[in-house]
Amino acid sequence: MLRYLTGIQPTGPLHIGNYFGAVRPATELQNKGEAFYFIADFHALTTVHDPALLREYVRGVALDFLACGLDPAKACFFRQSDVPAVAELSWILSNVTPMGLLERSHSYKDKLAHGIAPSHALFSYPVLMAADILLYDSDVVPVGKDQKQHLEITRDLAVKFNETYGEVFKLPEADIREEVATIIGLDGQKMSKSYGNTIGLFLPEKELRKKVMSIVTDSIPVEAPKDPTNSAIVSLYKLFATPDALAGMENDFRAGGIGYGEFKKRLFEAIWEKFTPMRERRAELEAKPGYVDQVLAYGAAKARVVAENTMSRVRKAVGISG
Ligand code: TRP
Repeated sequence: MLRYLTGIQPTGPLHIGNYFGAVRPATELQNKGEAFYFIADFHALTTVHDPALLREYVRGVALDFLACGLDPAKACFFRQSDVPAVAELSWILSNVTPMGLLERSHSYKDKLAHGIAPSHALFSYPVLMAADILLYDSDVVPVGKDQKQHLEITRDLAVKFNETYGEVFKLPEADIREEVATIIGLDGQKMSKSYGNTIGLFLPEKELRKKVMSIVTDSIPVEAPKDPTNSAIVSLYKLFATPDALAGMENDFRAGGIGYGEFKKRLFEAIWEKFTPMRERRAELEAKPGYVDQVLAYGAAKARVVAENTMSRVRKAVGISG
């Protein structure tokens, strides 16, 4: 049985791109193998410096996953910082991490380009991520394309460690879902928090409507035929509509006589309906006192057993106490 592990940073409420790219695949994989999913709050510290906000994001992301079908009886679902050994392993791995490897990190350069101040934690982010993956003897790590280099760094560090100290770590494989179509955001670019073009998963009705209405379109008049192949509206509608409803929208685009506002209304309805059962479930879970904490504590207890096992191999290999 393969062990799948992935982490999600709690840096804000999840959006539609996260749902199709991470949440839904995670709920599918929990039935295929041994799933380990964690909320990467240590990683989020690199960009979230408000403690109340970080707590709120962690709880929010946990509720989002649980509402969307993550089953804590099947998957080991926990908060990264509840297993502090990961920070210890990160330090140990730092000693087999060549500076040049981190200096070549695209995501570090990207973050600086987006105006995040360079810190040592931001720079060593990939080492902590390698620690996450290696601590739990992961076989497969499902991630987006943007994380590919982090997985290569992880494998490099595992090899270097094993060469230096003996075979301690399993070499993980990345599972990059190239075939998952890019989810388009409000402005027609890839939906991403850093582009500010996302649509939240569980927005209140009015806010969701407003977001959908703000999708950027061209200025072709109502009566004129429109091109469905290049439209952010159609591209999003595809994710939610039945094949018939989608064909209907494409035909209406080509026929002319209907404005973008009307198409946006159809899209809003489709999104709202799709997430209604999950929204209701989320409200139920949110109302249960202590539920999220209980789930995360249960997951952390399971994760700690695996982590301690790995750490005793690691400590012994490098010659520190334990
Ligand atoms: N860096 C990942 C992201 O931003 C999150 C993450 C942290 C992660 N640790 C991980 C993903 C370990 C996979 C495995 O999406």
